[in-house]
Amino acid sequence: MAKTQHDLVVVANRLPVDLRLDDEGNATWKRAPGGLVTALAPLMQSNEGAWVGWTGTPDLAIDPFDDDGIWMVPVSLSETEIKEYYEGFSNDTLWPLCHDVIAPPAFHREWWETYREVNEHFASMADYAAAPGATVWVQDYQLQLVPALLRKARPDLRIGYFHHIPFPPLEIYSQLPWRTQVLEGLLGADLVGFQRNGDASNFLRAVRRLTDHTTSGQLIDIDDQEDRLVRRVRAAAFPISIDSARFDRLARSEKVQKRAAEIREELGNPDCILLGVDRLDYTKGIRHRIKAYGEILESGAVDPQSVTLVQVASPSRENVDAYQQLREEVETQVGRINGEFGGLGHTSIYYLHHSYPAEEMAALYVAADVMLVTSLRDGMNLVAKEYVAARSDDRGVLVLSEFTGAAEELNGALLINPHDIEGTKRQILNAMNMPVAEQRRRMRRLRRRVMVDDVAKWSNTYLASLTDMAASQPEHVHTPESGTLGHSLRDALETFVAGPGPILIASDFDGVLAPLVDDPATSRTVPRALRAMRRLAALPSNRASLALVSGRSLQTLAELSKVPAGTHLIGSHGAERGMVDEDGLSRDELALSEGEQSQLRWVVEGLEDIASRHTGVWVEHKPSAAVLHTRLSTHDGADQASAAAVELAGRLGLRPLVGKNVVEIAVLDTTKGRALDALRSELGATRVLYMGDDATDEHAFAVLGDRDVAVKVGPGDSIAPYRIADSSAAALVLERLAVLLTPQTKRTGRQRG
Ligand code: G6P
Repeated sequence: MAKTQHDLVVVANRLPVDLRLDDEGNATWKRAPGGLVTALAPLMQSNEGAWVGWTGTPDLAIDPFDDDGIWMVPVSLSETEIKEYYEGFSNDTLWPLCHDVIAPPAFHREWWETYREVNEHFASMADYAAAPGATVWVQDYQLQLVPALLRKARPDLRIGYFHHIPFPPLEIYSQLPWRTQVLEGLLGADLVGFQRNGDASNFLRAVRRLTDHTTSGQLIDIDDQEDRLVRRVRAAAFPISIDSARFDRLARSEKVQKRAAEIREELGNPDCILLGVDRLDYTKGIRHRIKAYGEILESGAVDPQSVTLVQVASPSRENVDAYQQLREEVETQVGRINGEFGGLGHTSIYYLHHSYPAEEMAALYVAADVMLVTSLRDGMNLVAKEYVAARSDDRGVLVLSEFTGAAEELNGALLINPHDIEGTKRQILNAMNMPVAEQRRRMRRLRRRVMVDDVAKWSNTYLASLTDMAASQPEHVHTPESGTLGHSLRDALETFVAGPGPILIASDFDGVLAPLVDDPATSRTVPRALRAMRRLAALPSNRASLALVSGRSLQTLAELSKVPAGTHLIGSHGAERGMVDEDGLSRDELALSEGEQSQLRWVVEGLEDIASRHTGVWVEHKPSAAVLHTRLSTHDGADQASAAAVELAGRLGLRPLVGKNVVEIAVLDTTKGRALDALRSELGATRVLYMGDDATDEHAFAVLGDRDVAVKVGPGDSIAPYRIADSSAAALVLERLAVLLTPQTKRTGRQRG
């Protein structure tokens, strides 16, 4: 059974791995060294984390795979989806809208439709990957509808969202024709994170003005139609950072130091190296920077032969018009300046339209005397932080646009307004001429901040706030089932756990852990029961063991119930035995004699024949039995089909098992009771608790003794002394046992991340 259930799921537009195709066209993956994945990797490895994201390539459908302890869940996008969801709505509508409309946002209804559909696709992949009660962390503007879509499908989840880019002021945000839908999408999260306080307040203001929700401080109340509080959402700032220690280490390494010296040499040992490192994006103010630099050269304030600007402009979103236009403009500008001020053996601007590995970047940072970050609007700007982390020599000057998130944190940089070309020129000159002592003073201050506030701290702080937020929700949000247990059962549970020796906690599945549904293939363990079972499964087996006892085949039981590793499974009314372990399902071999095999064929043929004569009746196949299902048939039809099945069993000399809307004919003579008894002896359990709802569970109740606890779920005659109403109450029984057996654990649930 593939590992599909994860306690921590990150959902981002892209997977943190790059696809490499070898000569034979085989795919291999290389971890992309992004800050987010580096920060989350240890947490994801210990929490069986999964990452849902696009591969970056059109129409590439691949199965989920493990990459160094992270379960990668690739989302396949078609050419049209890439055009309309990624290049269109994400990068030609939302991106410019969120960046002060530096480029005009385009509003196209088809793009919106595709954005919605792709968000649905991501949400369903996240739903599939998330274990009950898991934490799902959605990243960035490409996926703003995912939180609400996921909340609707999975109220049991703890959902976080982080907006990596600016959230615009209301006056700009309001241009978006789908502004309310996007806000409602985000409000599906428990915690909506932003880079700056200003972004969070822009968002809160948009919520107040464009939706019916009320806010107080950072909290937004989500009410139902009768104005009752359903849950709360918090919006707050969590400024992101980088893996500072890694950059620091890298930059100190001999290799990088050597390469930095080489770079200076290759550039002709100029007096001053200025550096710009950006995605080639119109938000980065690359043109403003080059203009200011060109004017400095022109002014004669410095000798053009003594300075060099290295501009790394990594290719980005090249199919979007605004990006193509920007590239042309920048390249013309660079050409003009180089033509004017360059000479033989000297280039004024080294323009590099590539991406470079982290080592080369670190060497560039070490080589650069002045770092230029001139964004017109930038959520954070991590390049500024990387430069600081690389300067363990406490040298170098950071010129930083006040329109970056980083400017709010990086006290020690020379701030600029990149629109003010004169002011920018002045600060660049200040940087070039700054005395070493002042460089050190400023850089030390910058490093104190960057080295401490790293990306691990960011993700830990965010996830801890998410946990707090989810825990403070009204009780019913994360525990949708309700109900209470009677006193006598509560007392019985206390006595049950108090006695000596190991105990066995066993339960039927359908109708007990999972409510009965029309389509049995969609049965699902109620999240609250699963949460309790995980706590129980963590107990040593000489204290307590868990078992699921069902008429279903073992395989289906394991797949549908999703019970935790360590749970014993009894399937096919005792004919099959197995266990859920870390790798999935391990099972004891089921051997049928030749006679039993031919009997099974006759049973299957006979039941199929009955099913073909009645509408709404179908046959389920199991390793040692076949089952006639009648729950979708009319009352009379069901009666007739069942009677025919009972008669068939009689003809074959087999005993039919008649349950709720099912008649099962097995070729092995087993019962849940015998199997439960065998398991109890095997485990040496001194006391057994069993919960069941159907006639077949009476066999299990029948093998229980005075010290055991038999709990009947739902109406109907039973020999069990205790009775509860439904699956919600069954979850409460398990929860109560978990609390009694692990008294040190708080009832609010264990801390995740
Ligand atoms: C910005 C966005 C990210 C995005 C990155 C690269 O930093 O906030 O979400 O992944 O740019 O953009 P791309 O379009 O290449 O994924």
